[in-house]
Amino acid sequence: MSTKKYVLELLENQGGKSISGEHIAKQLGVTRNAVWKAVKELERDGYKIEAITNKGYRLSDDNDILSVQGMLPFLSNKKISQNITLTPSLESTNTTAKELAIAGAGHGTIIVADSQSAGRGRYNRSFYSPPGQGIYISFVLRPSKHNLANHPTLITSYAAVSVCQAIEATTKKKPKIKWVNDIFLDGKKICGILTEAITDFETGNMQWIVLGIGINFTIPASGFPKEIENTAGAVFSKKKPTITRNHLTAELINRILDFEEAWDRDNIFGQYKERLFILGERVTVTESNGAFFDAVAMDIDNTGRLIVKKDNGEIILLSAGEVSLKL
Ligand code: BTN
Repeated sequence: MSTKKYVLELLENQGGKSISGEHIAKQLGVTRNAVWKAVKELERDGYKIEAITNKGYRLSDDNDILSVQGMLPFLSNKKISQNITLTPSLESTNTTAKELAIAGAGHGTIIVADSQSAGRGRYNRSFYSPPGQGIYISFVLRPSKHNLANHPTLITSYAAVSVCQAIEATTKKKPKIKWVNDIFLDGKKICGILTEAITDFETGNMQWIVLGIGINFTIPASGFPKEIENTAGAVFSKKKPTITRNHLTAELINRILDFEEAWDRDNIFGQYKERLFILGERVTVTESNGAFFDAVAMDIDNTGRLIVKKDNGEIILLSAGEVSLKL
């Protein structure tokens, strides 16, 4: 790791307190001049660093640059940081994660990008992913316990609950889930989840799952594109963020990578259902083939299927498709 990265790690670890150049130099076994140079490089990268006489350097509170060093203080298992690859821009973190999975990447490989030029959503939609505003993250998962590998939809539901819990734990906000895996806040979509999987042709078992999560953290200065301006929102849509993207990303990573240990189907679906905002409501169901009908959303079962009652009284279980509230 470069001196710059070590200096950043020490500054991030200070939690906003200052640390002297001398102290940093001693800890890293480099000269004070090397520390000064590293600080200047970080400033060139966009970091705001305050140099306070007799106290040292301090990361200013309004830095929000994604970095593994910035996630480290919040990761429950520091070793996970070795599995995170962070890139300023990718076509799609899911595409990169899939390529890595095919090439044999292990369970828990994590790809994060500050922006995506071709972010993908469900049904081949695009996912708007501008720089500096969001969290675009994909996980390569090779679950080995609880037969989870064969149930990617359960993992998607777990991920939806994890996104909500990570936001709840770091902010006072209470996001909601729209079946099947969109996260809403104040009536606007703030996060989408795209799970992709490959099955072994011979055994029928899932070889790997790529779980992709896109969170709108703030609203771009120029606003969202026309097509989504009425439906898209962000975790911090009005006021200045009270946390960093690094903090929220780390909280999310902690939860997602814990899924096999934390797995308790009833608890997960209990948590999922608590946050589902369509139950008891009239909805329009759009099926994967584009057909649609009106119904009342009644419940979900413990595999994540939505139970709806059609207007003719027929009860159906949906495992895919989309619902929208009927106004
Ligand atoms: C949806 O809303 O339909 C799902 C959106 C999923 C977006 C995330 S961003 C990270 C990962 N990379 C992608 O290309 N897509 C997912």
